[in-house]
Amino acid sequence: MEAPTRRDTDDCPAMRSAVSIIRGEHLAFATALHALERYLAPAIEQGLKPNHDLFGTILAYIERFTDRFHHPKEDEHLFRSVRARTDRADAALLDLQHDHATGAARLQTLHESLRRAQSGSGADLADFAGRLRRYIAGQEAHMRKEHEIVIPIARETLTPGDWEMVDLAFRDNRDPLFGTGPDGSVGYLFRRAREAPDP
Ligand SMILES: [Fe+2]
Ligand SMILES: [Fe+2]
Repeated sequence: MEAPTRRDTDDCPAMRSAVSIIRGEHLAFATALHALERYLAPAIEQGLKPNHDLFGTILAYIERFTDRFHHPKEDEHLFRSVRARTDRADAALLDLQHDHATGAARLQTLHESLRRAQSGSGADLADFAGRLRRYIAGQEAHMRKEHEIVIPIARETLTPGDWEMVDLAFRDNRDPLFGTGPDGSVGYLFRRAREAPDP
């Protein structure tokens, strides 16, 4: 059977729907990362201990969003379908799945560092800030890799039937907390971060 061409799948509604949902989820995640950055800046400038409830709530949101919601759908549906059609994305998928597998441990380390920063010591605050900034940069790079490598290869290689399965998975179990990100039950944290002046 002839491989599907870019033109074939560009006309596929399931592909457009799945890619749009993935982009929306990444946008919600990026908004949460941006909120962390905005709240961190004044704490660093003023040498204040970071607000434990505020950072803890956003980190818990990220944990639920990524490990229980977004990453399993990527691993089990999008990545699996791409692997079944081509080996062109194998190296990127290996890196991305390693990030998924180690995400919970990295967040746990961040929670612990946040707790230590409550001591008010400059060294503990610097440790938390450094870890948080590395985490944010890592997650942004992760999403870039998905957009720049995986999704374009998926668009070229997945069949309409593949996209229907991927779309179904991403449309399933949508939760307002995650599906709308900034408008979900922790939305007030993101709105406040947006209203804060640029650091
Ligand atoms: Fe991912
Ligand atoms: Fe993703």
